[in-house]
Amino acid sequence: MTPKHSPQDLRSHRWFGREDFRSFGHRSRAKQAGFTLDDIAGKPVIAILNTWSDANPCHTHFKLRAEDVKRGVWLAGGFPMEIPVLTLGETFMKPSTMLYRNLLAMDAEEALRAYPADGVVLLGGCDKTVPALMMGATSANLPAIFVPAGPMLRGNWRGQVLGSGSDAWKYWDDKRVGIIDDCAWREMEDGIARSFGTCMTMGTASTMAATVDALGMTLPGASSIPAADSLHPRMASMAGRRIVEMVWEDLKPRDIMTTAAFENAVTAAMALGGSTNAIIHLIAMAGRAGATLDLDRFDGLSKRTPFIADIRPSGRYLMEDFFYAGGLRAALSRLRGLLNLECLTVTGRTLGDELDDAIVSNEEVIRSRDNPLGPEGGVAVLRGNLAPDGAVIKHTAADPTLLRHSGPAVVFRDYNDLDRRIDDPDLPVTADSVLVLQNAGPLGGPGMPEWGMLPIPKKLLAQGVRDMVRISDARMSGTSYGACVLHVAPESFVGGPLAFVRDGYVVELDVPARRLSLRVSDEELAARRAAWTPREIVYPRGYGSLYAQHVRQADRGCDFDFLEGTAPIADPEIH
Ligand code: FES
Repeated sequence: MTPKHSPQDLRSHRWFGREDFRSFGHRSRAKQAGFTLDDIAGKPVIAILNTWSDANPCHTHFKLRAEDVKRGVWLAGGFPMEIPVLTLGETFMKPSTMLYRNLLAMDAEEALRAYPADGVVLLGGCDKTVPALMMGATSANLPAIFVPAGPMLRGNWRGQVLGSGSDAWKYWDDKRVGIIDDCAWREMEDGIARSFGTCMTMGTASTMAATVDALGMTLPGASSIPAADSLHPRMASMAGRRIVEMVWEDLKPRDIMTTAAFENAVTAAMALGGSTNAIIHLIAMAGRAGATLDLDRFDGLSKRTPFIADIRPSGRYLMEDFFYAGGLRAALSRLRGLLNLECLTVTGRTLGDELDDAIVSNEEVIRSRDNPLGPEGGVAVLRGNLAPDGAVIKHTAADPTLLRHSGPAVVFRDYNDLDRRIDDPDLPVTADSVLVLQNAGPLGGPGMPEWGMLPIPKKLLAQGVRDMVRISDARMSGTSYGACVLHVAPESFVGGPLAFVRDGYVVELDVPARRLSLRVSDEELAARRAAWTPREIVYPRGYGSLYAQHVRQADRGCDFDFLEGTAPIADPEIH
């Protein structure tokens, strides 16, 4: 490796290398922390942005992983500096971590601006922590490696495998109609989350980690390593070593995260049957990188990409099985011809180079392109008079008989309304009805909560109904499933057509034709719009107010308007 710059060119030199009053203070305070001048002089400072918290059980191991990264940084001649940033604990944070994704992105960006970082290792994994850290680091555009938390071990209940989220939803419906009892339900509660690490289905965490891996921003294949596998701390240490080299090579996120690299990430997500949340996050990340990505490109890439990874909720297996089958590198090796193999990765080598020795060791879990689980990817983008700016459906996780369906709407004004009435025996609903949830989008939620898998009414569950068409401007968990149309844009809260749907209006869904429409005249819709009155902002003060003023709609990635783009970030003055 030939360094592209000298120690005097390092960003941190302004803090530690000068002979002025402030540098005296910075060096004396490093010594206060127990370091000698030899520990810091002329060395790249590597920020380790850590989302560890008691509020985030998926990241329980990050205290240890930060130490593993530090070991690698020291070995390579760097100076590690761990910086805690906001965590987004998916299970505990309400109404949705999505409300705070941009706050963590700002936290990361500003930490990298304000501290003497020359490069950064990002410790994240639980759902929105992945795009948030990536967005912040991309805007900062310092050399960066993402270290994914890794999936947790398989869940277990009486010898049966349990998958995060997916099996909880499934058995919850069984419990609601008395098929399983309280004792069994409690045993599942004990066994569904057996270790640290992220949800081990192909939910949002696994999908986002895989997309960041396919983008080239993790060590190749890192996203598939189970959190509890000893390879995981070794990977973290290797990331620590590699980031120091990247600083000397001046290899930055925007050198890696090109439009072609984003297309690789989308292709990976589609082949894996990944979470619909990836659409929003990748569009937002691309916006920070200066890459081009929109909903229609997602749909185009989905149509040409076979669905080859048999992982829940769209398939049968879990992330541990995927790892043993070869993991993401093996899966990507099956997609040669659909990928831009010349794209750079954090290793400084191309994606094609990194796939050279990848081997599939279980053909059931990772299928060949000749024997896919489905001929196309997991996501379809829909448009029509109900979603002029688009909506999405994860059709691989839906009952195929519902993918062409029309039926009368049963409308809920918001989630509280749904909660009150969904199990009412008098609710005028049949298996052919289309459940519609309003005011659950970016502003309506707020934060576009994962409410999009509307519960099936109890009386239909008792009849054996397990899927029906559901439509909302919400998102749904990557571990969810069903014929759920999501991300309807513009959202109902800002006066999108979803706001004007009434009970009994016929909704037409045609996934093969990519259509979502209301069988209602333009005149009637115009009359409904004229009579519509907007609701009050849900969080009118503080961060909620900032969010409400600046958040983009789902089709634009829900970033803040003032954070998009590639304008350089001014370094702080030091006086
Ligand atoms: Fe953390 Fe699913 S709750 S990844």
